[in-house]
Amino acid sequence: MGSYDPSHYHRDALSKLSDSSLLIGDAFIDGVWQKTDNTFEVIEPSTETVLGQVQSCDTQHFQNAIQSANKAQSEYFKSTTGHTRGAFLKKWASLILENKRDIATILSLENGKLISEAEGEVVYATSFISWFAEEATRCYGVTIPSSTPNTQVTTVKEPVGVCGIITPWNFPAAMITRKIAPAFAAGCAVVIKPPRETPYTCLALTKLAVDAGIPPKIIQVCPTKNREASLELATNPLVKKISFTGSTGVGKMLAKLATDTLKRVSLELGGNAPFIVFEDANLDLAVEGAMFCKFRCSGQTCVCANRLYVQRSVAEEFTQKLVAKVSQLKTGPSLVSTTTQGPLVNKAAVNKVQEHVDDALAKGAKIEAGGKPGAPGQGYFFQPTVLSSVTNDMIVAKDETFGPLAPVFTFDTEDEVIQLANDTEFGLAGYFFSRDINRAMRVAARLQVGMVGVNTGKISAAETPFGGVKESGYGREGSLYGMDEYTYTKSVTVGNLDI
Ligand code: SIN
Repeated sequence: MGSYDPSHYHRDALSKLSDSSLLIGDAFIDGVWQKTDNTFEVIEPSTETVLGQVQSCDTQHFQNAIQSANKAQSEYFKSTTGHTRGAFLKKWASLILENKRDIATILSLENGKLISEAEGEVVYATSFISWFAEEATRCYGVTIPSSTPNTQVTTVKEPVGVCGIITPWNFPAAMITRKIAPAFAAGCAVVIKPPRETPYTCLALTKLAVDAGIPPKIIQVCPTKNREASLELATNPLVKKISFTGSTGVGKMLAKLATDTLKRVSLELGGNAPFIVFEDANLDLAVEGAMFCKFRCSGQTCVCANRLYVQRSVAEEFTQKLVAKVSQLKTGPSLVSTTTQGPLVNKAAVNKVQEHVDDALAKGAKIEAGGKPGAPGQGYFFQPTVLSSVTNDMIVAKDETFGPLAPVFTFDTEDEVIQLANDTEFGLAGYFFSRDINRAMRVAARLQVGMVGVNTGKISAAETPFGGVKESGYGREGSLYGMDEYTYTKSVTVGNLDI
């Protein structure tokens, strides 16, 4: 799209879908696409217009979905092998890639992510499916030398059962596949509550999963505007595991609710990532890293750099280079080809960035670039912003902005910056740039986070464990550990053998 008319924006885009049957607004329960008694609106962030109406599930729908998934799950595990589950996953991945442009268009419309980023996310989402298709065939147990004569001890991995999956709007495709691909590979069934802001991508992926041959009752999707109803996933005894990506507050609440039935819980929660530039860094590389991990997805990822700490001797040069790049970003609707920075997801997100900027300015920060929201009624935009003279008493030091705001703090010594970086209840990601190998090893060890990027702002990949420490949650997604979250280890002791 080279230009756009807000009143036709998504109608034009949707009319160009190669397969319009991928745009689904129904719930998927007990293997059937269903209407419910209620609907909710999905708002298109580039234009603030209604993209469509989606069915809203109540508690009974969640209960039906959970019961249906529970009935189907043990048969699914018994009647398949790791190889057949892997083959299904491969087929699903290839169907998603065949429909990449359509899925990316739907994703970009409902989330506001640039179409190029949306296509990148579809590929990223698919990489988890391909990864776990291979892992499905390698879900090994072990043989353990027994301390009792004539006895053999082995272990097998078994699926945990029905998994409740609650995902965020910032990665409408990848956060679904990063959770449900390992669940399917392990032999689990899933009941998904997709994000209210971006349910369409999940529903399209579900259709393709069924087209690829997954037994339909193994995947159930309950979109809803009713938060109480979705809590059924955390309390229903038939649900054996809950996986959630989102805010720390909601994560804590879900963990408390899940305690009564002792569910397994994985939580990927908020971050407050430090991004440290030492004076021996390659500054161009550091700027490139900051541009990627601050402004990707308009600053709306859990692993976005939230606090940029730059050593005093290079702070001015780094800031100038960063401002030069940020000033080239072109804010606009996500499907327009010249846009390089899309909108935020909603009005509340814009207000939060504004609040962080206002607070910083009131306490002495200076605007180096951007600093203003877009006009109301024309999309949820905020200019990509760089602030200098930022200090530790400002909200940006403590709270995740989740928007296109790069606050630059200065520091003098390594000890000082480590103390500042770790002075937060969060511990998801941390980044630093340095050419000193000893410093690199030392600082990586001292940062209290689950994921460290050294001389790079890109740390997410299917093969790399994703997850945090402290109040950023627990559990690891992707990687060789990802399936552990969806399996139990069962030991089998065979005694009194005649061998
Ligand atoms: C997230 O923001 O939760 C996910 C980011 C990523 O996978 O890179």
